[in-house]
Amino acid sequence: MNDKLKQLEEKIALAKQGGGEKRIEAQHSKNKLTARERIHFLMDEDTFEEIGMLVTHRSSNFGLDKNKPLGDGVVTGYGKINGRLTYVFAQDFTIMGGSLAEAHAEKIVKLMELAMKNGAPLIGLNDSGGARIQEGVVSLGGYADIFYRNTLASGVIPQLSAIMGPCAGGAVYSPALTDFIMMVEQSSYMFVTGPNVVKTVTHEEVSAEELGGAHTHATKSGVTHFTYPNEVECINGLKSLLSYIPQNCEEEPPSIDYQGGDETRTQLNGIVPENPNQPYDIREVILNTVDEQSFYEVHKDFAENIVVGFARMGGRSIGIVANQPAVLAGVLDINSSNKGARFVRFCDCFNIPLLVFEDVPGFLPGTDQEWNAIITNGAKLLYAFSEATVPRITVITRKAYGGAYDVMNSKHIGADMNFAWPTAEIAVMGAKGAAEIIFKNEIRSADNPKDKWKEKEAEYAEMFANPYNAAARGYVDEVIRPDQSREKLLKAFSMLKNKVDKLPQKKHGNIPL
Ligand code: HXC
Repeated sequence: MNDKLKQLEEKIALAKQGGGEKRIEAQHSKNKLTARERIHFLMDEDTFEEIGMLVTHRSSNFGLDKNKPLGDGVVTGYGKINGRLTYVFAQDFTIMGGSLAEAHAEKIVKLMELAMKNGAPLIGLNDSGGARIQEGVVSLGGYADIFYRNTLASGVIPQLSAIMGPCAGGAVYSPALTDFIMMVEQSSYMFVTGPNVVKTVTHEEVSAEELGGAHTHATKSGVTHFTYPNEVECINGLKSLLSYIPQNCEEEPPSIDYQGGDETRTQLNGIVPENPNQPYDIREVILNTVDEQSFYEVHKDFAENIVVGFARMGGRSIGIVANQPAVLAGVLDINSSNKGARFVRFCDCFNIPLLVFEDVPGFLPGTDQEWNAIITNGAKLLYAFSEATVPRITVITRKAYGGAYDVMNSKHIGADMNFAWPTAEIAVMGAKGAAEIIFKNEIRSADNPKDKWKEKEAEYAEMFANPYNAAARGYVDEVIRPDQSREKLLKAFSMLKNKVDKLPQKKHGNIPL
């Protein structure tokens, strides 16, 4: 028995060595942790249980039979994060560059199936050179097995991906199918084809960082939702994100204790400027409305004309979608529509109520937007809101113009409650443009067309640049003072807590992708 125990201990020790000291040192020298160190920081102490530590590949191609590392380059298992069951896999770059092949993929697939059957989140810590070249098509098959399960798990359990090293080729598509991606600055990158291939095919010269580093994906492509300066902060980010999200689509998000008090927020009265064309930062409205220090912004540096993120109201998770008047006047364009739509759908999948702050002058005009399909892309946001069955509330702080009024969670597309501040302007378009169109002849034939235009603009503004026409029809449920917003929202969300709403029976809808 003692011999057998010794053999077991030796195997465990060998598996825990990963690719050996030298490769671990190389990993550390790039400011990267090892797979096991990452799991150590992620999971509650002594809760991680490893699965498949002794798995090896079965290939003998290109001398692989002489190199059969235990675990096959990925550590998989389950444990607790803040007391809640979570499944995690961490690719081990010290073993064949974390490359993925048959056995490596089987371990991840096994974990995904456990996560789905047991209704708990799955976290992937990605650090991989992609498909293991020596194993050929079984590597590709392994990826596809994972992609398939990513898709089946979508909307059933939350799937989070942290990119903590290179992710090339197939390694990017599994994260792309998950709900959220996080990247570590300067030490992670994602691309379908690397700089060398780019140079061969298109003659473009570009560095790995520029092509697919954290900054690029946070600002240009929007592929990543979050970036962090180092791995430990990234891991803490995963934990924060999980704190807003339920274990699966059947459960409610976790809530924290909240002691109510005076909910008046006088600071809100001074945020919207007198001049309707002057910008302000919608984050000030958000931060003064939600529970203190609860706002966790998503996609912060991408499509900044819309702000999305998680927060809490009275201790309960909500998702926020807000036009940002400080960037492009808060206009809706292709990227902001996509950003908003994706976030709305995530919240709806996982029973997270939605709060919308609206100040939007409309959709962005121009050939760039039209030729790149603002019609189809704007429709995604419209579709996402219309389809969402979670409690939905809108607060119109200022402009609600044109089609954007309809799109931004109007009552007509299923919002449950719609509040407006007295500064709200709910109209087909801004007063200046409207006057120009409908009083065209009068302005043209006037002695002083400029003065006439101004007069007509004022007339139109008087009639429509307010919330009262909408309130008279019940499109707005209540016009409130800004300082009352928090109290009104707490009450409304509490009233909507047990909302049940069902979509018509169907296989699935056909969102305009
Ligand atoms: C097998 C791999 C590997 C791979 C890296 N390694 N990638 N082994 N298959 N895909 C091994 C290296 O041989 C090396 O082994 C060790 O991992 C570390 O790699 P280095 O190159 O020394 O590290 P580094 O300089 O940091 O560069 C990392 C890298 C580079 C940028 C990821 O290794 C690289 O470009 N790899 C290939 C990326 C790629 O093209 N993958 C295939 C994509 S195709 P030793 O023993 O020397 O330490 C694909 C198709 C799937 O994924 C499609 C599905 C849709």
